[in-house]
Amino acid sequence: MAQYTRVLGSVGLITLKNPPVNALSAVVRQGIVDSVERALSEPEVKSLVICGQNEKFCGGADITEFGKTMTGPPLTPIFHAIEAAAKPVVAAIEGVALGGGLVLALGCHYRIAHSKAKLGLPEVTLGLLPSETGSLRLTRLIGVPAALDLITTGRHVTAAEALQLGIVDQVFDHNTVDAAVKFALSVAGQSLDARRISTFPCPSLPNLDAVFDAAMQKVRQAARGAIAPVACVQAVRAAATLPYAQGMEREKELMATLFTSGQARALQYSFFAQRAVGRWSMPSGSRWDTSKPKPIRKAAVIGLGTMGRGITMGLAQAGLSVVAVETQEKQLMEAKQAVSGMLERGAKRRGVAPLLDNISYSNNIKTVGDVDLVIEAVFEDMALKKKVFQQLSAVCKPGTFLCTNTSGLDIDDLASQSPNPELVVGMHFFAPAHVMKLLEVVYGPRSSPQAVATAMQLGKVMGKVSVAVGNCQGFVGNRMLSPYMSQADFLLEEGATPEFVDQVLEEFGFAMGVFRMSDLSGLDVGWRVRKAAGLVVPGQPVRMRQGCRYSPLGDLLYEQGRFGQKTGSGWYQYDKPGSRVAKPDPWLHGFLEEYRARHGLVARRIDHQEVLERCLYSLINEGFRILEEGIAAGPEDIDVIYVLGYSWPRHRGGPMFYADMVGLTKVLERLEFYHQAHPDVPSLQPCNLLRKLVASGSPPMHRWREVIRKVHSQL
Ligand code: COA
Ligand code: ADP
Repeated sequence: MAQYTRVLGSVGLITLKNPPVNALSAVVRQGIVDSVERALSEPEVKSLVICGQNEKFCGGADITEFGKTMTGPPLTPIFHAIEAAAKPVVAAIEGVALGGGLVLALGCHYRIAHSKAKLGLPEVTLGLLPSETGSLRLTRLIGVPAALDLITTGRHVTAAEALQLGIVDQVFDHNTVDAAVKFALSVAGQSLDARRISTFPCPSLPNLDAVFDAAMQKVRQAARGAIAPVACVQAVRAAATLPYAQGMEREKELMATLFTSGQARALQYSFFAQRAVGRWSMPSGSRWDTSKPKPIRKAAVIGLGTMGRGITMGLAQAGLSVVAVETQEKQLMEAKQAVSGMLERGAKRRGVAPLLDNISYSNNIKTVGDVDLVIEAVFEDMALKKKVFQQLSAVCKPGTFLCTNTSGLDIDDLASQSPNPELVVGMHFFAPAHVMKLLEVVYGPRSSPQAVATAMQLGKVMGKVSVAVGNCQGFVGNRMLSPYMSQADFLLEEGATPEFVDQVLEEFGFAMGVFRMSDLSGLDVGWRVRKAAGLVVPGQPVRMRQGCRYSPLGDLLYEQGRFGQKTGSGWYQYDKPGSRVAKPDPWLHGFLEEYRARHGLVARRIDHQEVLERCLYSLINEGFRILEEGIAAGPEDIDVIYVLGYSWPRHRGGPMFYADMVGLTKVLERLEFYHQAHPDVPSLQPCNLLRKLVASGSPPMHRWREVIRKVHSQL
C-alpha cells in the first residue's frame, strides 16, 4: 500500500509500504494513484514528497507479478500523472531506487538521495529492459553514453555517482525524508516547466550512429546469446532519436518481445533461486530457520597459495580480523605483498581506507589459538590436510570451527582427525576467491547444523551466495563437471576437434568451451585429480578404467608437458607460455589422428547437436543423481552453483532449469539413445529420478521435490 500523511501543514507525504523492498505491487500502485489524487485535490497541500518505508525507497516492479495476469493500475500513466502535476513532487531516495523505483523517481520533479542509496535500472539482469518510460527518461536526463552504460549493464550507482551524472539533485548524509520535505516547501509554487523529463529534447550527439554501432558490437560480444542487452541498446537508440510518444511505442514493442521470452523466465528464476538457497536444509531435517550461526569475529587461513590469498582478502574486506598462516617463508612474504596490494587497489577504487591492519601474518600455526573459525587452504592432498587438522585440533580454543577449502576431498575423512567432528565443514571457494560469488558449504554426516549455519552466514558476510551441499566426491559442481568433460574427450576420440567442441559450447553461451577452460586452469590440475582418484596409469594409455570407458587423452598431453596456457601448449597452441590467445594446433590434430589409428577408432562426422546433447545431458543426468541422493536439496541449488561457479549462461537459468525447458522426456530419450550407443559409459545411463519424473508426467520444477521425497521414502 501507500500511506498518505500531511506534514508541516502543506506537504503531502506518500510512503510506499510493501516490505521488504517496497516493490510496486498492484496494491502499491493503487495506493500511489489514490494518494497523489488526494494530495493534488487538497488546497492546503503545496508540494508532495514520495518516500519508502524502512528507509528503502523502492526495489522496482514486483517481480513475483510477472507471468501472472496484470491487475491494478499500470505504471506509465502513474508516472505521467505525477510529472504533469501542478504541485512539485520530490522523491526522497533512501536505500534503493531500482528499476521501476528509479523510474518513479524520474517521474518526480526533483530527486533527493541519501549518501548510502543505490540507484539503477537492473532490468537487463532479469531479461528485460527499463520499460514504462524508464529508458526514455534516463536517456533524456543523462545522455546517451551514460544511459547506455547503466541500462545495458544494469549496474547500481552510488548516490555520489548519481549526483555527478545528474540523476539526483541533492545528496544528504542525514534524514533524507526531512530534507526532502524542507526542499519541497522551498520549491512550492515555482514553475515546473524545466523539471519534466518527458519534455526534454532528445540528447544530441554528433556521432550517434558510431556510438550505437560500437555499443551494439560490445553487448553482442559480451551477451553470448542473451537478447535483453541487445534490446536495451535498441531502446536507448529509440529514446535518443524518436519523439517521446513514438519512443514510448518502440519501448513497449521491444519490451513485449522480452517479457514473454524464455530468457526472461530463466533470469527471473535465477534471481529467486539465488535467494532460495539461503533457506537451506539438510537430509537430517535441520534447516536454516532452526539453526543459529555463531558470530565470527576472528578467523584464520592456513596456506597462502592463490586460494588462501583470495580467502584472506575476502575475510579482511568483510571486516574480520584474520590470522594468515603460511609455512614457506618466501610464499609468506609474497602473499603478504600480494594481499596488501589487492586490498590497497580495491580500497582506492571504492574511495575508502585499505583494511591492512585486519590481517596478521605468521609462519606458525600456533598463532591461531584464539580464532573463532579456521579455513584450511593447503595443497589438495589428503595426508597433508589430515596433518594440518590434527595440528589445528591441538592448538585451537574449544568450539573453533574447522573448515577446509577443498574442491572435492572427503570432508568426513578429515573430520575424523578432530575430536570434534561436528565442528568440521567444507568451504569450497572458487578462484579468485575474493571475486567469485559462489561458495559451496559442504556438510559431512557429522557436521552440526550450527557449523553449517555459521559457514553459510560467513559466506554471506563475505558477499557470497552460499549453497549447502552434501559430502561426495567433487561435491555438486565438480561432480557434475566430470561426465561433461569425459564426453568432450570421447567426442575427440570419435572424430571431433577441440575447437569444434568449444565452439558449440560457446555458442550455447558458456564463456569458454571445455578445452579452452582446461588450458586456462591447467591440464596438470585435472591430472592430479584423476591421479588421486586412481585413474592415472602411467605409460599405459588403455581406454578402460574400472570397467568403464576412459579417455587417456588428457593424461597423454600432460605426460608431454602440455599443461595449457602456462606452458604455451595444451589442447591448443599459444604464441608463448602465459599467452591467452588459443590457436588450433596442427600437432594436436595429427596426434588425435595417430591416437585414433592406434586404437582402431574411425573418425566420423560429429554434429552440433551431438556435442551439445552428450556434454549437457550427461551433466544434467548427474544433477538428477545428486538430487536423488539428497546431496543437493533442490534443483535451484544446482542451478545457482552452475550459474555462479561454472559460467553456465545466466539466460539459460542453470542445467536443471534447462532440462525442464527442453523437456524431461526429450532428455531421457536422448540419454537412452546415447547410452545404447555407448553402453560402457555409465554416466549416459538415465538415472532413476529422471525416469520417475518422466513417469510422473514431467511435473514442473517446483514440484520435483515431491517426487524426490517419494523416491527417498521408497529407498
Ligand atoms: N519484486 C519482488 N520481490 C523482490 C524484489 C522485487 N522487485 N526485490 C527484492 N525482492 C524480494 C526478494 O526476492 C527477497 O525475498 P525473500 O526474502 O523471500 O527471498 C527479498 O525481497 C529481499 O531481497 P534480497 O535481494 O534478499 O535483499 P537485499 O537487501 O540483499 O537486496 C535489492 C535488495 C533490492 C537490492 C535486491 O533485492 C534486488 O536487486 N532486487 C531486484 C531489483 C530489480 O531488479 N528491480 C527491477 C525489477 S524489473
Ligand atoms: P592454491 O591455493 O592455488 O590451490 P597451493 O595449493 O599451491 O595453491 O597453495 C597451498 C599453500 O599452502 C602453499 O603456499 C603451501 O606452501 C602452503 N602450505 C602447505 N602446507 C602448509 C602447512 N602445513 N601450513 C601452512 N601452509 C602450508
